[in-house]
Amino acid sequence: MALPDTLRLDGQTALVTGASSGIGQAAAIALAEAGADVAINYRSSLDGARETLSRVTALGVRGTLIQGDVASQDDVIAMFDAAQAQFGPLDIVFSNAGRQKDGPIADMSLDDWNAVISVNLTGAFLTAREAIRRFRAKGLRPEVSRAAGKLIFNSSVHQRIPWAFRANYAASKGGLKLLMESLSQEVAQERIRINAVAPGAIATAINEAERDSDGGEAEMLKLIPYGRIGTPEDVGRAVAWLASDASDYVVGTTLFVDGGMSLYPEFRGNG
Ligand code: BGC
Repeated sequence: MALPDTLRLDGQTALVTGASSGIGQAAAIALAEAGADVAINYRSSLDGARETLSRVTALGVRGTLIQGDVASQDDVIAMFDAAQAQFGPLDIVFSNAGRQKDGPIADMSLDDWNAVISVNLTGAFLTAREAIRRFRAKGLRPEVSRAAGKLIFNSSVHQRIPWAFRANYAASKGGLKLLMESLSQEVAQERIRINAVAPGAIATAINEAERDSDGGEAEMLKLIPYGRIGTPEDVGRAVAWLASDASDYVVGTTLFVDGGMSLYPEFRGNG
């Protein structure tokens, strides 16, 4: 079935960071399904990135692979240059790359702290700064979108829900929430639209060990009122919607895609 016009992204170009697997890969595909050309960033997994590329191009749009680490300022600038050289000015950026390095606080090394903050928060800052600079330089293209640019962050339910043994990760996502909102407040008047998705437990490599551990999935399901683990596609569709004019009046908002995880389900009939 054809998508309504407001959901289409034809003639627009997108960059997705961390697009070699999981939510980044699904978002790249969802953006391509809606008609956008997609620049696929990856850091180390060339095979995964190639898979994303072949699934994107199979949809009849253009794709390109761009290696780079979002925690590196030089890499991020080079990534935008490469995407722009291929496709022209970007209309959509999904700042997705993220990681976890869990541990009890007393054992958390500074390296483990920095590893997570430098990708999840500093990487988001570097990506956002570059996206805003480029959206600004491009300006409005009313023939393709009502906004001069759409920037979407991949946050987490843990921008709201504290997470023991993962203080670095929760701190990065809590920081990302106010990064997103502050930037949105700063540039919305330029018709640059900034939002975030906040996924809950989605079946990706990041939580594979937890899900596969003895009783792990059942424990997770207790925290999900809707009764299923999410799929990367659940989040990919939300990203494509936030990138489209169908959400044109949605500014500085976090869209929770979590099967109700952020509703504190343990309080049902309790507390
Ligand atoms: C984490 C996952 C976790 C989910 C729900 C995500 O942000 O990366 O490991 O399963 O939150 O707790």
